[in-house]
Amino acid sequence: MKMGITLFKKYNMNYLSIKNIDNLPDWVNEALALKKHPLKNQDLGKNKTIGLLFFNNSLRTRLSTQKAALNLGMEPIVMNFGNEGWALEFEDGTVMDQGKSEHIIEAAQVISQFCDVIAIRAFASLTDKEKDLSEEVLTAFAKYATVPIVNMESSVGHPLQALADAITLEENLPAGKAGKPKHQPKVVLSWAPHPKALPHAVANSFIEMMQKQDADFVITHPKGYELNPNVVKNSKVEYIQEKAFENADFIYTKNWSSFNEYGKVITQDKNWMITADKMAKTNNAKFMHCLPVRRNVVVTDEVLDSENSIVIEQANNRTYSAQIVLKKILGG
Ligand code: CP
Repeated sequence: MKMGITLFKKYNMNYLSIKNIDNLPDWVNEALALKKHPLKNQDLGKNKTIGLLFFNNSLRTRLSTQKAALNLGMEPIVMNFGNEGWALEFEDGTVMDQGKSEHIIEAAQVISQFCDVIAIRAFASLTDKEKDLSEEVLTAFAKYATVPIVNMESSVGHPLQALADAITLEENLPAGKAGKPKHQPKVVLSWAPHPKALPHAVANSFIEMMQKQDADFVITHPKGYELNPNVVKNSKVEYIQEKAFENADFIYTKNWSSFNEYGKVITQDKNWMITADKMAKTNNAKFMHCLPVRRNVVVTDEVLDSENSIVIEQANNRTYSAQIVLKKILGG
């Protein structure tokens, strides 16, 4: 902490990454219970405010996190920081004689006085690897805010999305022996083409979430799209997409830019698009994507509109993933 600044933290819990989940099956089961009775804990958030700060665009995260807060009786306030807030300085000890008007030290403490929880979306720049890996914005808020911080997608992770994905996987487990859900599904994370350079956050958090699951998990992507080895660790990587798809129960698709050639689109190989022919190689797999998705670039209409596509219910589970996180922060 900087000299002279003593911060009193109102609650101890942040939700910055999948690592903050102590017991994933318990959280998933609690979220499924909340989904059945979403308004049961309305008193928990009474007279409490959540501030949602957006440095980047959003549809699902913005609306589902507000919905989750409302379900708990909280009052959400939203600020589009990117366009409407003062440009923030994050470097300590800087002479602020350039474009930045306000330092994070004041901003985070001031916002903390208006909010009981602060949630932040701040994407990767994809130009400065070191800065992105440090999660500059999220880390600075966690350091200087005096209330809990929730990650609504940082430069490195999207843990609210991954928790919603875990809920969706659990709900869609295929039948195993004696009609019981099969608890060791094959789950494939597949890269797919995209015209723009996209961040690694969704893929990173999905991998970290899958590493906590009892599943046969495989990542497939073209050579050159290897993700951060500190995230992938011992997870299986298969460079032949169709081989990875064999017997899969879930195909989770996402584009990401190169990690090694940081932020570059090194190929847009259309052969990696998800098609009905490829889905036919699976074990009647469910198709998942965090959305937004580019039709007929990432995945064909045929797959996205098929009954095996569960992207809409996956998006719906964003509410219950945010709600379980907020419930835990508020002490419920
Ligand atoms: N999946 C997801 O985070 O969607 P938004 O970018 O629309 O919030």
